[in-house]
Amino acid sequence: MPFYHKLGKIPPKRHTQFKKPNGDFYYEQLFGTIGFDGMSTNSYHEQRPTQVKDIIKQYSVAPKIAKVNNMQSYRLHGFKTKPENDYLESRKIVLTNSDCHIILAAPKESTKDYFYKNTDADELIFIHKGTGKLRTHLGNLDFKYGDYLLIPRGVIYKLDFDTEDNRLFIVESRRPIYTPKRYRNWFGQLLEHSPFCERDLRQPQELETYNESGEFLIKIKKQGDIFDMVYASHPFDVVGYDGYNYPYAFSIHDFEPITGRVHQPPPVHQTFETDAFVVCSFVPRLYDYHPLAVPAPYNHSNIDSDEVLYYVDGDFMSRNDIAAGHISLHPAGIPHGPHPGAMERSIGKVKTDELAVMVDTFKPLQVTEEAMKIADEDYYKSWLSLS
Ligand SMILES: [Fe+2]
Repeated sequence: MPFYHKLGKIPPKRHTQFKKPNGDFYYEQLFGTIGFDGMSTNSYHEQRPTQVKDIIKQYSVAPKIAKVNNMQSYRLHGFKTKPENDYLESRKIVLTNSDCHIILAAPKESTKDYFYKNTDADELIFIHKGTGKLRTHLGNLDFKYGDYLLIPRGVIYKLDFDTEDNRLFIVESRRPIYTPKRYRNWFGQLLEHSPFCERDLRQPQELETYNESGEFLIKIKKQGDIFDMVYASHPFDVVGYDGYNYPYAFSIHDFEPITGRVHQPPPVHQTFETDAFVVCSFVPRLYDYHPLAVPAPYNHSNIDSDEVLYYVDGDFMSRNDIAAGHISLHPAGIPHGPHPGAMERSIGKVKTDELAVMVDTFKPLQVTEEAMKIADEDYYKSWLSLS
């Protein structure tokens, strides 16, 4: 997060004595990224955050790859991913490379019996269906339809859902996820041409603090394995923190689209960046207003990035037979574009109500066995006819 946030109680100066009313010490933790060069937060704990009691299990959650090298366009029926009770078990990696996993999840139950921490990756969770509360050791965030939840690596969290009907689109990123640098000035403030501003980014406001000893299971992800580690103190025991490294939320409905006289390219929809992929938000907007404008996108050859579109809501102007919950994968190396008839259909239209999330990866994506379970194998021929 590129701006400062303070929550709870902190001492006036960092790395100085900070005492409880009874005279005992609070324990400070520097929670940083990229060594000591990246975003960091100083948090103050009721107990030492280092008290590992046991490591009871280690198991792999690495994806099984169906296609290592892929040149085929796919449509995945995301809503065919089966709901499962447990949050972590419900996460199905459908596309992957060494920089990121793209995941579909339909968890029915809140995380109750354990806490979760991903040390491999930042997690970007897009809420397609469901409401609830993200609870973390650095404070809580309410979520609803259309929210992106950005959870930096190392944040300990739980997800509380209000109902069993939840659909999540998740990107796990081994590279830190930031808002685009070109939207920010040299101090990090979002500039006037940015499609969102600091007011749209929701910071944690509610800190849960438990000073409890016992046995607390944290499922920790590292190098594609989950380690079931038991801690002797409650993971949510922070009384206060300040800094730049904390989870936050941003609603896709707060993304203000940039439009033009002629078709604007995908970068105007950019919402997040890493040095390995970008995330764009396609939101309801007015179409191009040149008298001879063609609102549908032109054919384009994304020669060096795989393009993943997750369709959320509305009418997808450039595609035939695409519905909410679908994913399209257009691999690098071959051109793709509007489906037959879509370009002609778009002429004279003044607005679109489409809502979609796009992930463009710079390295090719591998297709997993989970993806093949919900894949439309013939999609790659869909530019041939009006089918
Ligand atoms: Fe495209």
